[in-house]
Amino acid sequence: MSIKIVTLCGSVRPGNYTAMALELVHDEFRKMPGVELIPLRLDGLELPLPGLPAKNPDAIAQFQETVASATGVLLASPEYHGGISSPMKLAIDNLGFPSKLAGKPVSLLGVAAGTIGAIKSTEQLRAICAHIGAVPLPLAVSVANVQQVFDAEGHCLDAGTEKYIRRAARNLIDYINDAVCPKVSLEAILRGQVEED
Ligand SMILES: Cc1cc2nc3c(=O)[nH]c(=O)nc-3n(C[C@H](O)[C@H](O)[C@H](O)COP(=O)(O)O)c2cc1C
Repeated sequence: MSIKIVTLCGSVRPGNYTAMALELVHDEFRKMPGVELIPLRLDGLELPLPGLPAKNPDAIAQFQETVASATGVLLASPEYHGGISSPMKLAIDNLGFPSKLAGKPVSLLGVAAGTIGAIKSTEQLRAICAHIGAVPLPLAVSVANVQQVFDAEGHCLDAGTEKYIRRAARNLIDYINDAVCPKVSLEAILRGQVEED
């Protein structure tokens, strides 16, 4: 069975650090057999403010369909003014009601310039995900002092932090394999290989 993972980057700033951290997570997903990765970018999507008509409704419909088709989702947000970024909130607000994220396992990644890390943005993401019926994973990966952790080319300068960031990918796949994917195949039942309760 193929596992489809959609990721969303909540920063649209040129040269943003959230994308650098997310790239490590993407690299980790790409190493996993059977995982199809769909990284989504918010710049260029022209998401409408809630309640206003979309300039390109087809693009928004496609955005919703792509998220709806995911087995699991990874949301990566920078910490902006003690919370999630406005592009990330706008993306979630454009995922419909009921949300296309409902029922999806969601891995959380937060990136902050400050020393306390992305505590508030990851907690906000967790609360929003729970509110809309998504399943945020217990471990949210929060990166502090991000501008010292990566160089300008996006190389991670700290091996321990890199391992921790990559964990956001493994976590999601472990959850999907252990909790979401069916453990019993129909074929096994039909062949009588599964004992009845
Ligand atoms: C509007 C704005 C607000 C910010 N507020 C915070 C903050 O509250 N705490 C913090 O640690 N860093 C804050 N930052 C710095 C970001 O965390 C920093 O830019 C970091 O690199 C992640 O954002 P990026 O992915 O856009 O690069 C802020 C940056 C911007 C642009």
